[in-house]
Amino acid sequence: ELKENTVIVVLGASGDLAKKKTFPALFGLHKNNFLPKGIQIVGYARSKMSHEEFIKRVRSNIATPTSEIEEQLKEFCGFCTYLDGEKYDEDKYFQGLEKHLAGLEKGQKETNRIFYMALPPSVFIPVSEMLKKHCYPKNGIARIIIEKPFGKDLGSSRELQHALEPNWKEEEIFRIDHYLGKEMVKNILILRFGNEFFGSNWNRNHIDNVQITFKEPFGTEGRGGYFDEFGIIRDVMQNHLLQVLTLLAMERPISFSAEDIRDEKVRVLRGMPAIEPKNVIIGQYEKSLDGSKPSYKEDESVPKGSRCPTFASMVAYIKNERWDGVPFILKAGKALNEQKTEVRIQFKDVTSGIFKDIPRNELVIRIQPNESVYIKMNSKLPGLSMQTVVTELDLTYRRRFSDLKIPEAYESLILDALKGDHSNFVRDDELDASWRIFTPLLHYLDDNKEIVPMGYPYGSRGPSVLDDFTSSYGYKFSDAAGYQWSNLPEN
Ligand code: BG6
Repeated sequence: ELKENTVIVVLGASGDLAKKKTFPALFGLHKNNFLPKGIQIVGYARSKMSHEEFIKRVRSNIATPTSEIEEQLKEFCGFCTYLDGEKYDEDKYFQGLEKHLAGLEKGQKETNRIFYMALPPSVFIPVSEMLKKHCYPKNGIARIIIEKPFGKDLGSSRELQHALEPNWKEEEIFRIDHYLGKEMVKNILILRFGNEFFGSNWNRNHIDNVQITFKEPFGTEGRGGYFDEFGIIRDVMQNHLLQVLTLLAMERPISFSAEDIRDEKVRVLRGMPAIEPKNVIIGQYEKSLDGSKPSYKEDESVPKGSRCPTFASMVAYIKNERWDGVPFILKAGKALNEQKTEVRIQFKDVTSGIFKDIPRNELVIRIQPNESVYIKMNSKLPGLSMQTVVTELDLTYRRRFSDLKIPEAYESLILDALKGDHSNFVRDDELDASWRIFTPLLHYLDDNKEIVPMGYPYGSRGPSVLDDFTSSYGYKFSDAAGYQWSNLPEN
């Protein structure tokens, strides 16, 4: 339930994340009447800024196509204030924040405060300490929302965790993985456990392999400073793709409560051995074939001679009764040929006999863009012959749910945090288990200087060995009769 009289403090309010995601999401919630009564939003950052400049920043990523939305945005800006504090590790600035908050809360019996840390990892620990020391509410709930990177490996993630522990209880911490706020990711448990025909086939007896693919058509474009320290594996695979894998693979939770769901997620992660370097390929993008797009190394923010992977594909296994032997093939890359995130579950061959080489069934869960779920299946080609054809059962959201708006991931997650629902946030032991799977591989790649990523042209499908790599784990590509799933035209 929503607590009235809540203050949301966005720390790092002058940064990119706040501008592009946090404030637009908060406004989205206001627009749809999901913010609690009496809400106050405080932007806090080091930059000196007037109230007007701050409001201009808040507005910069919010479109106001109608006068009604313009009115709502005015209302929204009416409960936003800004405060600067020169240093993130000095008492006096947080005493200043406390004073500002107390002023806004004057006369209230209950004071609920949510601290959203849109901050670089380097200041994360001092700020969480300062907030506890000076700004912890005396009578009301306190929550802290934090964003990745949660460390760079198991060791650094534990350090961060230990630094938080004395000040913040696990139930007060909301670790965001924004993929968990995406509509189609939230649908995975319903698809699996709400449909007997999926549920009963969801195991090693029927599924041959699972692919989880993340593709972006743009490179680091100026964000190379951050990216180079992390690389594609830490940036999207250890978190976003692994979360999707966990939801696909976990057993049915006892209930939809946060702890029941997270218990099952941890259980599946603990059943996964660390990823072995022999089951991994890495790549880094080069100039596009026509020369118009730069290579990764030409990005000015990237250090010379960088070995940072901008593409990786790897295979994970789960040692349990349901999944033993089934390869989960993860693929992620920047500067590829298209934008898409999808899950592709390939079923086994039908037993031979009456058909020769009939293509396999595939269930595709398209996370973005253009959310859809479809099954590639074989059917009789209408007519007088017994010829078969590949076709599909297709749930495309734009067609089926055309009058419903799909919420932004951040809207959905901030609303959960306001309600105190942890289901779609990462628990401490879950984070630990996920780093354990990736850390040996990451250290191996970091330490062995002779391992260099394979080049691939900007705008291509990735390194040329990719298809051979995927098929070596059993994936069968079939272009039967030139079959292609047809997307609806954009609009
Ligand atoms: C972020 C990564 O976590 O996720 C980015 O740091 C990536 O590199 C982004 O572009 C992708 O998110 P989305 O919602 O655009 O798929």
